[in-house]
Amino acid sequence: MSEFASIALHIMLYERLADELAALIAKGPLRPGDRLPSIRRLAEQKRLSISTVVQALRQLEDRGWVEARPKAGYFVGSPSIPLPEPQPAAIDYQPTDVAVTQRLLAVLRANDSRDFVPFGNACPAPELLPVARILRLYGRVARHYPKLLTDAGNTWTHNNLPALTRQIVKHSMEWGKVLDPAEITVTNSCAEAINLCLRVVTEPGDTVAVESPTHFVFLQILENLGLKALEIPCHAQHGLSVEALALATRLDAVRACLLIPNANNPLGTTIPEDHKRRIVRLLAERNIPLIEDDISGDLHFEGPRPPPLKAFDETGNVMLCSSLSKALSSGIRVGFVAAGRHKNAVDLQKALLNGITNPISQMVVAEFMESGGYDRHLRALRRALARQVQCVSAAIAEHFPEGCRISRPKGGYVLWVELPERCDASVLHREAIAAGIAFTPGELFSASGLYRHYLRVSCGYPWDARMAAGIEKLGRLLARQRFDERAPGDGYRHSPTEPGWQR
Ligand SMILES: Cc1ncc(COP(=O)(O)O)c(C=O)c1O
Repeated sequence: MSEFASIALHIMLYERLADELAALIAKGPLRPGDRLPSIRRLAEQKRLSISTVVQALRQLEDRGWVEARPKAGYFVGSPSIPLPEPQPAAIDYQPTDVAVTQRLLAVLRANDSRDFVPFGNACPAPELLPVARILRLYGRVARHYPKLLTDAGNTWTHNNLPALTRQIVKHSMEWGKVLDPAEITVTNSCAEAINLCLRVVTEPGDTVAVESPTHFVFLQILENLGLKALEIPCHAQHGLSVEALALATRLDAVRACLLIPNANNPLGTTIPEDHKRRIVRLLAERNIPLIEDDISGDLHFEGPRPPPLKAFDETGNVMLCSSLSKALSSGIRVGFVAAGRHKNAVDLQKALLNGITNPISQMVVAEFMESGGYDRHLRALRRALARQVQCVSAAIAEHFPEGCRISRPKGGYVLWVELPERCDASVLHREAIAAGIAFTPGELFSASGLYRHYLRVSCGYPWDARMAAGIEKLGRLLARQRFDERAPGDGYRHSPTEPGWQR
């Protein structure tokens, strides 16, 4: 073999081994902190030379996948993310009419399709959910409780299944302040819970303070109810700016506040506890109802379960909304609201809107939680999601052009990516869809057209070669964007204007 051919073979072998080990780390058998087999062992197992193995490990070390510890060997590391965090957008603090639904529907169609590389739909992959167990429970519940199929009432007094409210209350023990079963209303979803709350505390034309960026589901609901959004800036690590909220609610214009305090979607932030306390106190003092969406609170990556805002509520002003749509099953359609002093009004709205929530599904969730299965499932799901977020982050850091920024989620399954300002995520989206890749353009997370150079990348699916190729392709598309095609003054506000409440 010529010297050149032998070098080429050496490179091919160590790259193959590096890819093989990276795949094991990405898919889970090897976890951060795990020790790798020794160099000698790997060489024997793989029938490779020591120098080939050393080279493979060095390559993985350069990419952040492993770290060498003196005299101890190689350990699985956390791929470093050499990108800074996204910056807040400049916001003009004007209540804004909301009109996102038409643009959103086209994007959601691709997000929901299995034909696209799945960076769009913000949900854990089916293989991460206990689907077989849930199916068995449906059969069992229907057999054991046939009256649930025939004796459902028509009034809200029949809506909550006590077995489920008991489990919801029990689950709340984890975050310190136990929910009162009397304030819970079971709903079909988190979106329904939020809808009911807003119907109770606002009238068409009112203004609702939301985080910026905020989830498009909120914007859709505001649009549908004829409400305006007032966007409040957020910090990349701490989420909502309490100071900005205090200023924005100083005048009597804000009728309600709608927030995602834990594992925020799209930012990934969890509001620190002392900020949560201040937010709850501030809004109680100003008599502004606080609606919180805690749908991903159970999907935190580290430490104890972060408390919702409700844990700091002493006046019944906080309306805690959540559902099992993300953590258990998007099809099970069970959620709830703990509405504090608005409980009776929420019940009436629920009765007017759709009567009761499917009692079979309620019982399935109750039995699943009762069995301890939910907590076990959550532990595995949290680990898988943290790993997936890390893999997607590392790939973005490797393939996206210079000048990008990326969030460091504290939980959940989404990344918020800021592109260089001259980039246009909507143009990227068009090209990505043509290439079979889904994601959600940033402008859908703002009522006022902010975030045109941002995107949300979902990490709900286990990392694989198709996703790796998808991120690489997005990176190539971004590098190729012809920035000179953007018309100046395209209707999007990027510059701050004097906030009305400061004048
Ligand atoms: C933050 C947030 N809230 C609410 C929802 C809607 O959840 P559900 O299906 O329970 O209405 C979603 C789903 O996309 C979400 O991401």
